[in-house]
Amino acid sequence: MEKLISFGIESTSHTFSVGICENERILANEKSAYQPKKGKGIIPREASEHHTRVAAETIENALKKANLKMKDVDIISIAIGPGLPPCLRVGAILARFLSSKYGKPLVPVNHCIAHIEIGKLTTGSKNPVILYLSGGNTQVIAFTEGKYRIFGETEDVPVGNAIDTLAREIGLQPPYGPTFDKTAEKGRYIEFPYVVKGMDLSFTGIVTDAIKKFKSGSAQEDVCYSFQETCFAMLTEVCERALAHTDKKEVLLVGGVAASKRMQEMVRIMCEERGAKMFVVPWEYAGDCGINIAWTGLLAYNSGISMNIEKSKIRQKWRTDEAEISWIK
Ligand code: FE2
Repeated sequence: MEKLISFGIESTSHTFSVGICENERILANEKSAYQPKKGKGIIPREASEHHTRVAAETIENALKKANLKMKDVDIISIAIGPGLPPCLRVGAILARFLSSKYGKPLVPVNHCIAHIEIGKLTTGSKNPVILYLSGGNTQVIAFTEGKYRIFGETEDVPVGNAIDTLAREIGLQPPYGPTFDKTAEKGRYIEFPYVVKGMDLSFTGIVTDAIKKFKSGSAQEDVCYSFQETCFAMLTEVCERALAHTDKKEVLLVGGVAASKRMQEMVRIMCEERGAKMFVVPWEYAGDCGINIAWTGLLAYNSGISMNIEKSKIRQKWRTDEAEISWIK
């Protein structure tokens, strides 16, 4: 592969981040996350204001880390969706500006696909069933017939969002993921509804039930433990069926919730039973970050994908299975 430097911008949700890679080599991955007010969820307008505020400094830091100037960059990769429109717009405007000012090609990247591709790059997984679990998305994905197809997904809220909501309601401290995991370690099992419909999942009913149980006296740790056991078992079940259906031999966990030790343990046991191998994206690339976008943009550009600046638009609801994947043969 000819040497190519990709500059990636991520701004789809709470995180503004800039990553730079030269082919497979990661040169920088600077990020700054918006923190909602205590006890509150993300407010898109506030998040976009945060992104605007930190953009210049984050870009500068990334270039410094990579020891590069903007003119050394070959392509500008930008996550144009899916995501929150006010946040997407900040990144898109910046990317258009940099692309036209420095005369660099603009490459559109799907945020979800970027989670998958950085997972493959950093773990060595080649052809996995992907469990993509985050605060913004919950999907079971596999590459078949030219696309990353969704085999199962949440019908309502993403699992990471369900965990955050429940954590807030029962008075845990942020960051909710790790605190939830820790609290669950000491819990005992109480029964929660188990909601798998075909290959799809639903979490809101379980959250409501869990809050009700907490309010009527169940202990924090029992609620966390049982919620995890139920939701993670649901995800593992759907993942196992996708594995059986596609006949693949690898499972790749990506997204913030991939960091949960219990989630990993359940998938590992399932994989061992099926003779499959489990891969987990390293923690630093599990959440939203610019390097995911830079690397996926590089793959896309090398296989002929770029975008006209005048026609560049954000795609708020751009689904995983709608993205063109010309780099996998
Ligand atoms: Fe994400």
